[in-house]
Amino acid sequence: MSTTTDNVIHVLSNELANKIAAGEVVERPASVVKELLDNAIDSGADSIRVLVMNAGRSMVQVTDNGCGLSKDDIPLCFQRHATSKISTVEDLYNIHTLGFRGEAMASISSVAHVNLKTKRVGDETGWEYDIRGGKPSDVIPAATEPGTTVSVKNLFFNVPARRAFLKTDATELRHIIITVQQAALAHPEISFELMDDKESIYKLPASSLADRIAGIFGKPYKASLIPVQESTSVVGLKGYLIDPKMAKKNRGEQFLFVNGRPFMHRHLNYIIQSVYSTWIGKEQYPFYALFFEVDPQKVDVNVHPTKLEVKFDDERSVSTFTRSIIKRALNERFQVPEVGGGVFGEEIQGGGTSGAFSFESGFSAPRDSFANRYQRGPDRAGFQQSGVSGLEIMEKLYPSGGNDDSGNQQGGPDNTNFDNPLLSRHQKPQEKHYDRGRGFWQLHDHYVISQTRSGMFIVDQYFAHMRIIYEKALSSTESGLPSTQQLLFAQSIDFSASDFSLLKEVLPTLKKIGFNIQLLSGNSALVSGVPADLNMGDEKPIIETILQEYQSYSGPVKLSHREKLVMSFASKAAIPRGKKLSQVEMEALIDQLFACDNPFLDPLNRPTTVFIPLEDIHKRFK
Ligand SMILES: Nc1ncnc2c1ncn2[C@@H]1O[C@H](COP(=O)(O)OP(=O)(O)OP(=O)(O)O)[C@@H](O)[C@H]1O
Ligand SMILES: [Mg+2]
Repeated sequence: MSTTTDNVIHVLSNELANKIAAGEVVERPASVVKELLDNAIDSGADSIRVLVMNAGRSMVQVTDNGCGLSKDDIPLCFQRHATSKISTVEDLYNIHTLGFRGEAMASISSVAHVNLKTKRVGDETGWEYDIRGGKPSDVIPAATEPGTTVSVKNLFFNVPARRAFLKTDATELRHIIITVQQAALAHPEISFELMDDKESIYKLPASSLADRIAGIFGKPYKASLIPVQESTSVVGLKGYLIDPKMAKKNRGEQFLFVNGRPFMHRHLNYIIQSVYSTWIGKEQYPFYALFFEVDPQKVDVNVHPTKLEVKFDDERSVSTFTRSIIKRALNERFQVPEVGGGVFGEEIQGGGTSGAFSFESGFSAPRDSFANRYQRGPDRAGFQQSGVSGLEIMEKLYPSGGNDDSGNQQGGPDNTNFDNPLLSRHQKPQEKHYDRGRGFWQLHDHYVISQTRSGMFIVDQYFAHMRIIYEKALSSTESGLPSTQQLLFAQSIDFSASDFSLLKEVLPTLKKIGFNIQLLSGNSALVSGVPADLNMGDEKPIIETILQEYQSYSGPVKLSHREKLVMSFASKAAIPRGKKLSQVEMEALIDQLFACDNPFLDPLNRPTTVFIPLEDIHKRFK
């Protein structure tokens, strides 16, 4: 029987509760800078000054010329859950300010010495208030300018473990600088100043976004900016990308904002990076500052303790939209034809113009042709509907330099078929009406070669097909519309215990790629369908190999679980080297490769295509 003395649960003191909350909100000096900047921006200021000493360890001070606080509001400002920004639960789903929790000042003041000076515009008196480790002083009159100055000193004075975890001054200052950069990019209409001890780091007058970018990152950025602006009923996006030439070896200049709030989003960064990968090498990272506008009810900004991450209601739409817009902006800049064509939201109507893409044994797409299915994604609409061929895209990418002496008549070899793209697409393998100029050659059953007006290109058939299958399968996992060919007789397959548990784990993704698999007892499974791209008959070794490759993948590119699985599938399903291809197959391969989002690299970033300009070939004969 328990007695009262056995009771062990008690409510923590306010002081301790605040200190625990501070552990989440205040991680390092840059967190203090962020919270104070948020408050300064929310106060309506048009001028904000940040002063840090010892990279913020000794002091972070933020001065704004915003609305200021009344005498009575000052102590409240440091109470937890005290805020002027929201009052009802509904407000939480309709946030227009950076702050909303009423938590930052309480947290900061529980782990530092805080001094606040404030005056409202029109008030005769200003006020000053001190709070040290949660212990408040009286509010006393003070001579101060309209606005608010908050000074946070001796951060973590009462949490030595936190203090010990801080990194070098250089690292802490870098975090502070990034935080100021984020605020300054989000609000070019506000002037910002950042000083470290006595040294001025930024002095940024109110300006346009392009000038703000130049002010922060240097003048050469301004000339290299690529503007983006587009909106749909779901999301708007504007901001700037940069010429790939300006990409840097380190990350750190990638800025995403939603409704003016900076956020991190690995997947969006990955998408943007992958669109850029056509132009930049591995481990190079472009600058971008992209501003999403979404109905505040459609984005949850309350999913992360320091509000660094957000959750879009419709993550997929935002991703697809972003990819389309970035791709279009870069393609326009570099005059690449719009292979993506359709802007987000334009769904494809009706069938495409491509004929079946059929490899005699390794591949067949009898029910739902490869090309037709490939058009589902909005990115592919323009490409397929306009009937632009892969060769035409190569022509545009590598236009003739004016010294075309390849012997072709005006208009070049490809004109015939460009005028009538249906012709080549519907030819059967046995039909041999190929223009010499439109021809494809296979080298060692491994490479496909063709000519453009300004040179020739060589495509690795395996890498190219891997890219095609990879993008297609990835998009089926996103759309949930896989294409499956049903087996005449379902196959029962026994797995090892470890393969079986792995199979269980990846089953939902395998189904989205197009496998129909039902788990049975005793480590066995019934396979009744496989993706349309896969050769029927080898279900067991194929599934086993996919599982093995998925498990043992340690390639150079960081992939999510889903991408890894799709990669393993693509590597198994792609036409192998050593396979002879007909003219129609080669043409289909090239067309479909250049309909991909990222035709130039396979999923592991190996080149699919090498272009050799005619000039280089001429030089060899000199
Ligand atoms: N620089 C400032 N100028 C004017 N008012 C301020 C300033 N800083 C804080 N306040 C007032 O103090 C309140 C509490 O600030 P605090 O940062 O703790 O919470 P919040 O901004 O409301 O929410 P969050 O915890 O999400 O930041 C604010 O709601 C605001 O009314
Ligand atoms: Mg705040």
